Amino acid sequence: MKMSNQKIILTGDRPTGPLHLGHYAGSLKARVELQDNYKTYIIIADTQALTDNAASPEKIRKNVFEVALDYLSVGIDPKVSTIFIQSLIPELAELTMYFLNLVTLSRLQRNPTVKDEMKQRGFGGNMPAGFLTYPVSQAADIAAFKADLVPVGEEQLPMIEQTVEIVRKFNKIYKPTLVEPKAFMSECPRLLGIDGKSKMSKSLGNAIYLSDSSDVVSKKVMAMYTDPKHIHVADPGNVEGNAVFTFLDAFDSDKKTVEELKKQYRKGGLGDVAIKKRLIEVLENFLSPIRKRRAEFAKNPKAVMKILEEGTKKARIAAFQTLSEVRRAMKLDYF
Ligand code: TRP
Repeated sequence: MKMSNQKIILTGDRPTGPLHLGHYAGSLKARVELQDNYKTYIIIADTQALTDNAASPEKIRKNVFEVALDYLSVGIDPKVSTIFIQSLIPELAELTMYFLNLVTLSRLQRNPTVKDEMKQRGFGGNMPAGFLTYPVSQAADIAAFKADLVPVGEEQLPMIEQTVEIVRKFNKIYKPTLVEPKAFMSECPRLLGIDGKSKMSKSLGNAIYLSDSSDVVSKKVMAMYTDPKHIHVADPGNVEGNAVFTFLDAFDSDKKTVEELKKQYRKGGLGDVAIKKRLIEVLENFLSPIRKRRAEFAKNPKAVMKILEEGTKKARIAAFQTLSEVRRAMKLDYF
């Protein structure tokens, strides 16, 4: 049972690359806003990252640090949020083992996110068993901290659903011990990529990273997908499915002007270059303080690693407490 009545958040990311604007709109922003009112745990899921990167330990190691820098630079405050490394909490692996008995193979094969990712990665007949079962390990991450709320992007919803099923089953078979979590969806749970076709994603090469330089951001915005039928400035244009407007909706705080621009664009007479210039300015205003903070933290890698070490120690205490309750409920508390 919970010790205090402050609600708990657990969320995190796989350290397979730097974080991008999609991560920010879908989850990082909410974490920063909620961290003062919730007890917040943020997991850098290196164990999960290894499920499809077993042969690239260097890449994962490097990105644990990069993701930590991303967190700190967007304003996740290590004084109130506990940032930790998944692999250093063996209790999570233990809980995963117990949870694996509460889920069927066919249920795992039906998880829509895993199905999409399987296709993307083209595993064919060679899918690592750890990959198919990573939703179970993710359920353990969430349950071990008794999280009430999980702020995530849209593609993670099936994971929360599966966690709820497992937790319910555990509580029913053994003893009410674990907490059923809820997903927390941002207003923009799925940001389009600069290609305007699919969601922003590292593997699709359509992302703008939080760590991109001004030059790179400008180039990416200038190459952004708009409306292929909007050829001359005078042509009426489509706002729906137009990546530039999707980004203005997500990052331009002057909603009134954005609505005006949409009207003008639909009618004709507003060029792509004009809206792209506005977007570049909006993104510069947003990213430049983030870049500055990132550079500050990057100067002192030892201090960043210390934050992770302290966070991991704290997180381990919480997970250890839950696992004691879990073992008792499962009659594994022998001595
Ligand atoms: N699956 C998440 C991602 O791909 C990372 C993750 C691991 C996570 N464990 C979690 C997210 C628990 C939320 C809660 O980035």
